[in-house]
Amino acid sequence: MALLGKFITWLDDRLPIKSFYKKHFTDYYLPKNLNIMYVFGVLALLLLVNQLFSGIWLAMSYQPSPEKAFASIQYIMRDVPYGWLIRYLHTTGASALFIVLYLHILRGLLYGSYKKPRELVWLFGMTLYFVIMIEGFLGYLLPWGQMSYWGAQVITSIFGSIPVIGPGLQEWVRGDYYVSAATLQRFYALHVIAFPLLLLALLFLHLSTLRHVGSNNPAGIDIKKYRDHNGVPLDGVAFHPYFVTKDLVAIGVFMLLFCCVVFFYPTMEGYFLEPTNLQPANRLQTPEHISAVWYFTPFYAMLRAVTFSLFGFEAKFLGALVMMLAVLMPFFLPWLDRSAVTSIRYKGRLSKLFMVLFCLSFVVLGVVGSLPASLASTRLAQVCCVFYFAYFLLMPWYSRYEVTRPVPERI
Ligand code: HEM
Repeated sequence: MALLGKFITWLDDRLPIKSFYKKHFTDYYLPKNLNIMYVFGVLALLLLVNQLFSGIWLAMSYQPSPEKAFASIQYIMRDVPYGWLIRYLHTTGASALFIVLYLHILRGLLYGSYKKPRELVWLFGMTLYFVIMIEGFLGYLLPWGQMSYWGAQVITSIFGSIPVIGPGLQEWVRGDYYVSAATLQRFYALHVIAFPLLLLALLFLHLSTLRHVGSNNPAGIDIKKYRDHNGVPLDGVAFHPYFVTKDLVAIGVFMLLFCCVVFFYPTMEGYFLEPTNLQPANRLQTPEHISAVWYFTPFYAMLRAVTFSLFGFEAKFLGALVMMLAVLMPFFLPWLDRSAVTSIRYKGRLSKLFMVLFCLSFVVLGVVGSLPASLASTRLAQVCCVFYFAYFLLMPWYSRYEVTRPVPERI
């Protein structure tokens, strides 16, 4: 023990680990009322680490060429020791990351965590989400199954629908006239090197900006206002040991659920791993129903909801535009929300109504996007799109003029 103490002192003289630990753990105070919605950030962090490690191990046996990609995945699943586990950790981890992220974002919407002074935390968070979506899309091509191939074909063909520059851009993205060896090779490079690096940089910025301004809380009350004579916030609790212990409980419960899926339901009835992707990619045979992975289905439904051309622009381009705008809308929330209060708890009836409609339409769009297109499902998707955009576009009006409830001074 004495030796360990000596080593830590030696290290601290050269690298200030003690002051770092004090500043960011024991002397860092968080609001005492943080609830279960505040565990998803840590869970996202855990899953991101899982993706990085399982990904590195997959890359050791995966081969990024049309001739070998599909077979190398079968090799990992059957011959590599514990290869099946490494792959299921990666595929289940991807879906779990999106579940956790959607809940993490929902928390932000409910408690107004995007509002001043957390605008940058929110913007870096949204950029992270956008980059993770691209990362997921790139990774999906790698197994080179039927759905991988045709999914990439459909999404890259969206670039082709852009007027004037479209066809050239589509060819540039694919590196060929169609999804081919060049596409697979570049998607691999981006998936395993470029985007993980970008993700880590964005994560650093996300957490640094959050650490700088401090966490919000379910009541939206600033805890920095009331402090004791040592400068400790009266409504704050130290991050270590209190929140670290609380987070560890959440991690334990989550790991239990996660392992149940990894070991007993890794395909999740086709939602986490699609049966069509067990057939090798075939450029001459289009699958009957090309579906997106579940976490993209709300946006896929929006893409398909636009069935008409307008001002000479074809429906596919307009659908892509709607889809892109839907992803971009949340970026503007810090400036769309004009409410005098932060948390939904003290907002008026209209904010609550639009929030419920927004969440419902996102879920319905997700369901509709996973089904084959029909007239009824297209109409439903169109109505949901209206509610989705109304939440954002009408926010400056309803958040400003509705009657809010008084916010208490202290938690
Ligand atoms: C891999 C992706 C992400 C990771 C690892 C991550 C991690 C974290 C962590 C550890 C926290 C502090 C704990 C907590 O409040 O839950 C946090 C807070 C926060 N995150 Fe993320 N995050 C990610 C993505 C996002 C996304 C996509 C958004 C949405 C735009 C977002 C918005 C926020 C906000 C607003 C806070 C502050 C919340 C508050 O104080 O109420 N994050 N994040």
